[in-house]
Parts: sequence; structure tokens; C-alpha cells
Amino acid sequence: MSSTVISNIATLVTNDPSLGDCSSLGLVRDAAVVIEGDRVVWTGESSKAPATDNRVDAGGRAVLPGFVDSHSHLVFAGDRTEEFNARMSGRPYSAGGIRTTVAATRAASDAELEANLTRHLTEALRQGTTTFETKSGYGLTTEDEARALRLAARHTDEVTFLGAHIVAPEYAGDPAGYVDLVTGPMLDACAPHARWIDVFCEKGAFDGDQARAVLTAGRAKGLHPRVHANQLSYGPGVRLAVELDAASADHCTHLTDADVDALANSRTVATLLPGAEFSTRADWPDARRLLDAGATVALSTDCNPGSSFTSSVPFCIALAVRDMGMTPDEAVWSATAGGAAALRRTDIGRLAPGAYADLTLLDAPSHVHLAYRPGVPLVAGVWRRGVREV
Ligand code: NIG
Ligand code: FE
Repeated sequence: MSSTVISNIATLVTNDPSLGDCSSLGLVRDAAVVIEGDRVVWTGESSKAPATDNRVDAGGRAVLPGFVDSHSHLVFAGDRTEEFNARMSGRPYSAGGIRTTVAATRAASDAELEANLTRHLTEALRQGTTTFETKSGYGLTTEDEARALRLAARHTDEVTFLGAHIVAPEYAGDPAGYVDLVTGPMLDACAPHARWIDVFCEKGAFDGDQARAVLTAGRAKGLHPRVHANQLSYGPGVRLAVELDAASADHCTHLTDADVDALANSRTVATLLPGAEFSTRADWPDARRLLDAGATVALSTDCNPGSSFTSSVPFCIALAVRDMGMTPDEAVWSATAGGAAALRRTDIGRLAPGAYADLTLLDAPSHVHLAYRPGVPLVAGVWRRGVREV
């Protein structure tokens, strides 16, 4: 197996405190990373790097782990430009807009859905994302949900069944019947294609009891819970997520002190999705409050055609630093190691021996530029599983 050293790195983010400067980011200055096959085998100061077959000169720029986007909705068709436009003229966001995308997604062919998915993945990769989670949730029939998961599973291991996104239009007068479908035949058809089960626990979607029924049924079929929680209003989602040991409670925009305490005293990650607050003109989630309480925070895009049509993790980092009280170091950690924690993974989100060689090279001397230079395309190179893709 051939080995490659990436050397002359001005600032390397390892996310391993035992490496480098002992901070959470495990920063190493004048650093090098050695890749063999799909793994990192060595990280440290450039001058001490072992001999390798190949060499890449980072040119005094920054390298960090590839972003781990632990929350997206990329199996869909159509767009919701009109809805966004109306929102920017004052109309509020509600869960109901999801129905527009459900109609377009059902009408699309497999090839159209996959082409759309691939286009967004390529877009995300160019912006430094090397791992992504994605969900169903725009099909809402057994066949359409299973199809979405099958398509997603061709591109990632991190696939989430979100049949409980909203009540399907056919069940508008019978939400209990829809929960029976989601927890019965639809789950049976979908579980083989997914790792996770999710529910939109929100007014206009599913209440606490319905969400509990969905998540516990999924768990019984071997899926692990994650929850769309406390996005548009206060509610039971976060505490349900913690109670069920969900890997992640996502959004966390409206939190009581009890919600924050519950997250801080659990291993459920609070995944913040500032693209959604940006695109719905909503109040920001308070990352500072969560971090000060001791919760683990992840940052992701929530990329979807309704509430957050961005695939850019750097954009989310900039928002989190500017408006959510995060330091640049915290935001970069949350978009890499935090995302990995939200997916209960230790083989990604860090650049230490044994981890996957998923790396992003920035056209900047340090990771801080991701927030310092908002909106600038700083990603100059991306390696995934040891292969340079950008
Ligand atoms: O995470 N909140 C629920 N689902 C998506 C929005 C989906 C949509 O509006 O199409 C979200 O923001
Ligand atoms: Fe979402």
C-alpha cells in the first residue's frame, strides 16, 4: 500500500487533545499528516514526518478533518423558491410546506431523485464535507419512503428513516392511522435500508406520545433514534430524545433550562442547524448556553428545499460564530468531531492514527478563516478515504 505525506501545513486541526497543543482541537503548527490507504497513520510536526512514497505540499495552509454533516434531507425533487420568497416578505415558516416537496418527490423517477442527490453531494464535497447523513421523509408512503432510503444508501451508511416527517396527506383526518402505518408496514419495509429513525416532534407534525411510539417501534427493529426537537416551539422532543438515548436532538432552538440540563447530563448531542434559522428568519439557537452547561454540540446544514437550502458547512460555521455565541474553535470542532459524535462515530471527525483519511485543505493559514472570511470559497482540496477528490 503506498503512503503519502501532506506536509508544510501551517495549522493542523486533529481534534485529538493528546496531539499538538492539548486544546480540544489538538492543533499542530508546521504539521504533516501521513496517509496509507484509506487511513491516517501519522500526524505531527513536519520535520519529524516519516519517509513516504508520495508528498503533497500544503503550501503553508490549514488542514482540518472533513466536515461531518450529520443532518440533511437530500432525497427530494422540486424546489420551494416561492415559499422562501413569501417568507422573506413576512409569511411565517410552518411544517405544512413539506407537503409541496412530498408531491414533487412522489412524482419524480428514481433517476431524477438520484441525480438531484448526487448534485447536492458533489456541491457539499466541494465545500469540504466528507461524511453526510441523509433522510427519507418526502415520500410518506411505504413505497416512496423505502425508495428514498434505498437511493440514499447507495451514497452513505448514515441513512435515517423519517416516515414521521408530517402526517401523509392521505391520512390528514386520521393521524393515528398514519402512526400505525409508520410503526408497522412502512417500518418493516424501511428498516433494512436505514441505520437511524427520526421523527419531527412539533406542533403540526407529531406530538410527544406519537413521537415516542415511532422511536420505540424503530428501536425494536434495530434502528437507533435521533429527533427533530424543539425547532419551532418549546415541547417534549429534547427530553424524549434524552430519555431514549437518542444519538442527537436536532434544532434545539427553543429550550427550557430543564431541556438544557437534560442534554448536558446525557450523551445525546445537541445538533444545531443555523441554516434553518437563517432561511426562516427565526431566532438563533443559543449555542453558548448549551456549551456552558456542558452539552456536546454539533453543527450541520439541515440541507433541504424548505427550511435550509444550503449544503455549506462553512456558512453554518460563520453563522454560529457570528450569531450563536460560539468561538471559531468551538464551531469547527462541532462541525467535525461534533458531527461524528452525533453519528456515534470515532473513525471520522479527527485526524489521528487509525481514523479515516478524510481531510479538507483550506486556502487560508488557519481554520479560524472559516468564520473570519464568511462566504468565501476557502476549500482548496478534499481527500476522502485517502483519495483526493477536490
Ligand atoms: O429540519 N423540521 C423538519 N424538517 C425540515 C424541514 C423540511 C422542509 O421544510 O421541507 C427541517 O427543517
Ligand atoms: Fe431537518
